[in-house]
Amino acid sequence: MTSSAPLTQDQLKALVGRAALAYVVPGEILGVGTGSTVNCFIDALAELKDKIPGAVSSSEASTARLKALGIPVFDANAVGELAVYVDGADEIDGQGHMVKGGGAALTREKIVAAQSRRFVCIADASKKVPVLGRFPIPVEVVPMSAQQLVRRFAAMGGQATLRQAKGGSGALVTDNGQHILDVAGLAIADPLGFETQVSQWPGVVTVGVFAHQRAQVCLLGTPEGVQTLT
Ligand code: 5RP
Repeated sequence: MTSSAPLTQDQLKALVGRAALAYVVPGEILGVGTGSTVNCFIDALAELKDKIPGAVSSSEASTARLKALGIPVFDANAVGELAVYVDGADEIDGQGHMVKGGGAALTREKIVAAQSRRFVCIADASKKVPVLGRFPIPVEVVPMSAQQLVRRFAAMGGQATLRQAKGGSGALVTDNGQHILDVAGLAIADPLGFETQVSQWPGVVTVGVFAHQRAQVCLLGTPEGVQTLT
């Protein structure tokens, strides 16, 4: 009798990255997100590069990876509505609401998602949750507003900390020149209401709850294979 080892998280990411190729629309510019799961998607996308004019990217890191594979990258302002946006998530619930921003790219991710008709989320099964908030919610903020916002989150029961750059060089600075607060201790029962409320606080650039820009499709990597949630 043979028994195969369970797939690792990296293998699940590669599996869903490849599965997302089925959602690429030939002839259409594609929206591309950020993160290790998206990196698997970009690597697989190289096979289809002659079928699409190129991509709109949500980060400097994804742009560099796309270009290295010979996939043209367009400025978001130079193109119209996109058919599909493919991106990962830090958490996703049963309605397609997500927490995003673990890779600090949430603002551009939300912009490209809003420019796209269909959000295809690719994630391994560990990202599926009943209620958002176990993963600290990333919030991109204007630096001078950070401590004011820490106090606002504390008043709703959250503990916000300023994300630090790797290597101990101080606060992380995003592609947009802003900072990130990571807010722990919140259970987001109403993702749409939470996103709407926090987005209005002065100094908030982007809250990493994606409810207005929720996923229409989620390709979830499970030990049994790719599960498609719609
Ligand atoms: C980056 C993101 C990523 O999509 C999210 O952090 C998931 O990343 P990974 O695929 O590496 O787990 O929102 O800002």
